[in-house]
Amino acid sequence: MNNEQLLQLTEKYGSPLYVYDTDKIISQYHRMANAFSSVNKLKINYAVKANSNINILKVLNQLKSGVDCVSIQEVKLAIEAGFNVKDIFFTPSGISFEEMEEATKLGVQITLDSLSVLEKFGDKYSNIPVCLRINPHVMAGGNHKISVGHIDSKFGISIHQIDGIKSIIEKSGLVINGIHMHTGSDIYNIEAFLTATEILLNTVKEFDTIEFVDFGSGFKVPYKDGDIETNIEEMGITLSNRFNEFCKEYGRELTMIFEPGKFLVSSAGSLLVKVNVVKPTPNIVFIGVDSGLNHLLRPMMYDSYHHITNISNANDVEKIYDVVGYICENDTFGSNRSISKIRENDILCIHNAGAYSFSMASNYNSRYRPAEVMIYNGEDYLIRKRENFEDLLRNQVIIDL
Ligand code: LLP
Repeated sequence: MNNEQLLQLTEKYGSPLYVYDTDKIISQYHRMANAFSSVNKLKINYAVKANSNINILKVLNQLKSGVDCVSIQEVKLAIEAGFNVKDIFFTPSGISFEEMEEATKLGVQITLDSLSVLEKFGDKYSNIPVCLRINPHVMAGGNHKISVGHIDSKFGISIHQIDGIKSIIEKSGLVINGIHMHTGSDIYNIEAFLTATEILLNTVKEFDTIEFVDFGSGFKVPYKDGDIETNIEEMGITLSNRFNEFCKEYGRELTMIFEPGKFLVSSAGSLLVKVNVVKPTPNIVFIGVDSGLNHLLRPMMYDSYHHITNISNANDVEKIYDVVGYICENDTFGSNRSISKIRENDILCIHNAGAYSFSMASNYNSRYRPAEVMIYNGEDYLIRKRENFEDLLRNQVIIDL
């Protein structure tokens, strides 16, 4: 989308505004499918947590994607969006057994990630094949908050507990139909992914009932020019060859699964914000916008870089700014940024805001969450209304004091 089109959207729908370009989602999906096209049985399960707007889910359903869900609510959203339960994979961690049972009754593919829950599941549902999430003990991921496959991570069953798994399944007769891992998000080091892959495949060999291998995700998207990016085409060739060779060794044609979130939706999204104040101080020129960590937490939580451009004055002289939010603590979207001259009321575009952006938004400072707009087949659609005062009070119970 060009600046002019984005500006028109803020005129029509107001600001702050999330905008998603579905053409980008569709092209990323095809890019991934093509990269692994030499694998006969490939399944791409979109990680719903990245952006759970039901219309985004519907677009992915049209593409014949599956979904990866981590809560019963995500499962229900996927069903509401039209996904067939056989395309819904449930990979939660540390949830109640009741929630696990609710998902099981809906008929989705269950992944278990602890010995305790494996035992409970085997006692009650030994006729339902399950997938196991292993912890390969590999350090991968952009930063410690999103590195989830190392030895001290809460996720998965340790690869050192395979004997424990075997004794539980022998007792219950439970069938293991898949092995899963997810080692982290924003993985900048391909080697870590490939090392974990070997550990994953070695684990598959421990069981003779496997039908699919789920490699999780963590594909790194570029946040600025020259940024590290997973070369999906190159990785596709390496991993597909390794997988095809492994299937021969294993003696069965297995399904290869990925669960991308960022790769599919990050670059499709933008957060458009309006400049409330230009505030020069002795060292820094602050640009205060009508948004904050309540709408986009990633820069503050992970020190993530989100590129920022001035779309209402794009070709002026570049100046150095700190772009900050209106929240009552330091919520810096970007510091020391060179941006085309900014004036009050300009509209800025914060890029790469399609993944973990709206889905991590809150009402902190009693602010409303923004509206969301989706561009589909060249038309813009409001896909979530801006919140209002009633929404803030909706579940509060006002007692008579
Ligand atoms: N599969 C599982 C089991 C996951 O836990 C995740 C992400 C994914 C797939 C998708 O990973 P992706 O393709 O998006 O890297 N809020 C953080 C990211 C947390 C990711 C949590 N799990 C962020 O904004 O960077």
